[in-house]
Amino acid sequence: MMIDKTFSETVRQRQSVRKFLPEPLTGAELNLVLEEAQLSPSNSNTQPWKMHIVSGAAKDKLAAALVAAADNPKPDFPYGDREYPAENTARMKELGKTYFAAIGLDRNDKAGRRESWLENLRFFGAPHAAFLFMPSVADNVRVAGDVGMYGQTFLLSLTAHGFGGVPQTYLGYYADVVRETLGIAPEWKLLFGISFGRPDYDAVINQWRSARAPLSESVFLHE
Ligand SMILES: Cc1cc2nc3c(=O)[nH]c(=O)nc-3n(C[C@H](O)[C@H](O)[C@H](O)COP(=O)(O)O)c2cc1C
Repeated sequence: MMIDKTFSETVRQRQSVRKFLPEPLTGAELNLVLEEAQLSPSNSNTQPWKMHIVSGAAKDKLAAALVAAADNPKPDFPYGDREYPAENTARMKELGKTYFAAIGLDRNDKAGRRESWLENLRFFGAPHAAFLFMPSVADNVRVAGDVGMYGQTFLLSLTAHGFGGVPQTYLGYYADVVRETLGIAPEWKLLFGISFGRPDYDAVINQWRSARAPLSESVFLHE
C-alpha cells in the first residue's frame, strides 16, 4: 500500500531533502508521482514542461560531468541574486547562515563550503535527478511560472507518498553539460533540477527547517 497523506500533512511536511536512502523508487511509484505532477495548471493549458530524469548509470555519468564543469557555470537564465529587494536579500543571507550552522560548517571554511556546494552536483546522494526544461518564449516569465507550478506539484506528490526532493537552481548552472550529456536540443532551456528519492530523515541536514516570514509581510487583504 502506497502512503497517501492528507493535503495539510503533505504541504506541512514538504521540505527540501538533502540526504537520501539509496533505494530508488519503483516504476509504479515513479509513474504515480509523474501522473500527479502532470495535473499541474498552466497558461492556456500549454503544459510547457519537459522533464528529463536520470537514475543509475546515467545519473552517475551526469554527476561526474557536472562536477568536472563545477568551476564553469553557464546558466540559461541568470540568477540575479544581487538585484533582489532588501527584504528578500535579508532572507537569502539568513538562509545561508542557518544552513551552514545546521550542518556544522564554519562560514570561513572555504574547502568545506565548496564541498557542500558540490553535493548539489552529486544530487545529495539521491537515486534520481530530474531536469526541468522549457521552450524560450518572449521574456520567459510566463513559461517559467508554469514550470514552477509543475515542479511544486511534483514535490508535493513526492511528499504525499512518502518520498522527497530538493529543487536546485545549482543544477541549472550547467545547462550545456546537461543538454550535451542527455542529447537534448539547444532550444530547450533548463530552469532548475530536482534531486529526489526516499528521504533519510535521520540525517542532521534533514532535521533543519528554513524559516518563513509572517503572513503580514506577504499578504495584503483589501476590503
Ligand atoms: C526554484 C528553487 C531552486 C532552489 N535551488 C536550490 C539549490 O540549488 N540548492 C539547494 O540546496 N536548495 C535549493 N532550493 C531550496 C530552497 O533553499 C528552499 O526551498 C527554501 O530554503 C525553503 O526551504 P524548504 O524547501 O525546506 O521549505 C531551491 C528552491 C527553489 C524553489
